[in-house]
Amino acid sequence: MNAAIRSVVRTGTAHGLTVWGVYQGYSGLIEGNFKKLGSREVSNIIQRGGTVLGTARSVEFQSEEGRELAIRRMKGAGIEGLIVIGGNGSQTGSYSLNKMGFPVVGVASTIDNDLCGSDVTIGVDTALNVALNAIDNLKVTAAAHRRALLVEVMGRKCGYLALMAGIAGGAEAVVLPEVEVDPEQVAKRIQDAYDRGKPHAIVVVAEGAKYNAEGLCKKFEEMNLLSGFEFRSTVLGYIQRGAVPTCADRLLGTRLGSAAVEEILKGNTGILVGVHKNEVITTPLDQVVNSRKELDPWFLNAAEILAR
Ligand code: F6P
Repeated sequence: MNAAIRSVVRTGTAHGLTVWGVYQGYSGLIEGNFKKLGSREVSNIIQRGGTVLGTARSVEFQSEEGRELAIRRMKGAGIEGLIVIGGNGSQTGSYSLNKMGFPVVGVASTIDNDLCGSDVTIGVDTALNVALNAIDNLKVTAAAHRRALLVEVMGRKCGYLALMAGIAGGAEAVVLPEVEVDPEQVAKRIQDAYDRGKPHAIVVVAEGAKYNAEGLCKKFEEMNLLSGFEFRSTVLGYIQRGAVPTCADRLLGTRLGSAAVEEILKGNTGILVGVHKNEVITTPLDQVVNSRKELDPWFLNAAEILAR
């Protein structure tokens, strides 16, 4: 997100705009927590994870009164348009503000990659690389002890991170919210892997799946599945959101931040900027918030085949 913030500030400044940073997301918008940002204020942030502006999940902003107050605050400061960097929750807020007459452009950013309007969103590549690094490290113990290790990744109700980390990390199985989970089948996959002579077994579990990593371990125990094997679970949690951003994420943030400014200048608002087939695209916010992003069936099939 910092790459996008930097890009918005510097592109806006290059066009002669005054750019303000809003601190703590929609909470800050309601409280009038803004500060003018010049090029120097965004120096040395492109390599930092997270967001220098901070963020918040604001309940107050979900009400019409909260949003009206936010609009009054912005108008009071002379702000004429807003760029919102975020995922589904943030863009639902963008859509509502825009419908109330305040010009908004969204920038597609979430590690979950569950946002319509962009093939890939800011943060996904970094979060995936964190997960891969962890999987590579976990394989060492899995192989040494001949254990089955279950790795839980984030993603809310979306299995994208788990699926991609599973494929790229060479997992024996992936457990996703989008696919019916049968603990017996997962155990069988692990057993088969060892029987075929694999030295380790890694299962990548999405946090939003019917059974999370701990839940699946419990099931294995209760049903006496995987007898003869030791298994352990590891939850990656917030470390997926704190890494140094990858090159791909820095470039994506930079492109989308700049595109958002260009769209605001054209008066093209009520949209999200994202990428499709590596081109920057725009999608109306009502489509973004009212559609569901599906997992690519090719990857679902590949995960099955490649684990063998
Ligand atoms: O949406 C990003 C995300 O990291 C999800 O993957 C995760 O479920 C959620 O945020 C955690 O957020 P919180 O700490 O607010 O529950």
